[in-house]
Amino acid sequence: MKTVTCTAPVNIAVIKYWGKRDTELILPTNDSLSVTLSQDILHSKTTISASKDYTQDRLWLNGKEEDITKNRRMHNCFRETRALREKMEQADSTLEPLSTYNVHVCSENNFPTAAGLASSASGLAALVYTLAQLFDLNVTVSELSRIARQGSGSACRSLFGGFVAWEKGEAKDGSDSMAVQVAPESHWPELEALVCVVSDAKKGTSSTEGMQHTVQTSPLFQERLNIVPGRMEAMKKAILERDFQSFAELTMRDSNQFHSVCLDTYPPIFYLNDTSRAIIQLVHAYNNSSPDGKLKAAYTYDAGSNAVIYAPKENMREIIQLISHYFPSQDAATYFTDPYNVIAGA
Ligand code: DP6
Repeated sequence: MKTVTCTAPVNIAVIKYWGKRDTELILPTNDSLSVTLSQDILHSKTTISASKDYTQDRLWLNGKEEDITKNRRMHNCFRETRALREKMEQADSTLEPLSTYNVHVCSENNFPTAAGLASSASGLAALVYTLAQLFDLNVTVSELSRIARQGSGSACRSLFGGFVAWEKGEAKDGSDSMAVQVAPESHWPELEALVCVVSDAKKGTSSTEGMQHTVQTSPLFQERLNIVPGRMEAMKKAILERDFQSFAELTMRDSNQFHSVCLDTYPPIFYLNDTSRAIIQLVHAYNNSSPDGKLKAAYTYDAGSNAVIYAPKENMREIIQLISHYFPSQDAATYFTDPYNVIAGA
């Protein structure tokens, strides 16, 4: 028996992935870009054991056993990593035949699952990374990213720290659809992220389901596909130049556009709630109060109501004070069950 434990971080997109051109291989309709958050505070932790005595593959998520037979995406990750291990075993007969063993997987998130906090991204990234360690795979992080993509699209970005782009690729088989690092976490240490847990309830519409309804029904979505390539270039430039003004405006505009295409989906998808919208207004009011007209903070929302606020470190204390003033402690249980102060970077 062999057992390995690894953790993987959450990433929060500033240019959103929304829509697939191939739902089986998980190939996106547009490029996306995210910031990987520090693992110390938000992560998925996965332990995998492989044993010749196990009679079947089994999975426990946050302590509860799940039916793995229905989990096609996990099987994609098992299949790909086992195939790589098998090749190694064929080349070297002294290796333990781990590729033939069943595995037991235990995975835990230290944050609300499926509440729009990128739990699938860190969860599937942790799964693939742990399998790679278990099988001693001698492959690049990009290759692991390509495998993690087949578990959950956004997971391919969580294999890297810092600022990460997922290039949608052109190949039909998905061989060129994987993440690349735009800049390491050390590139922009002044940039921080504040995660505001508005609600830890499971979201009504999953990203997987929601994005395909958007592809099928939203005319606005087609327009977004024309806009994203220019935004990707502008965002990469902003990051490389540590230009918070451009980074902040692009981040807020892209979050707003993503939620607009959700609203344009028929029937509409609502991820934001009144508290999320109040935070958007608060961030704009805060930016408008800036004496030199410079942006001081940017919000972004994934497929859920929780806000992530990106800001230079020097503004963070003020932002936390504002948030706690307008969303006072008696509401804490409802609105900010667990406000993490997360420093960007793995
Ligand atoms: C709004 O990666 O969860 O967070 O590929 O179907 O697993 P699947 O979807 P998922 O979608 C994430 C969507 C998003 C934007 C983003 O992270 O880029």
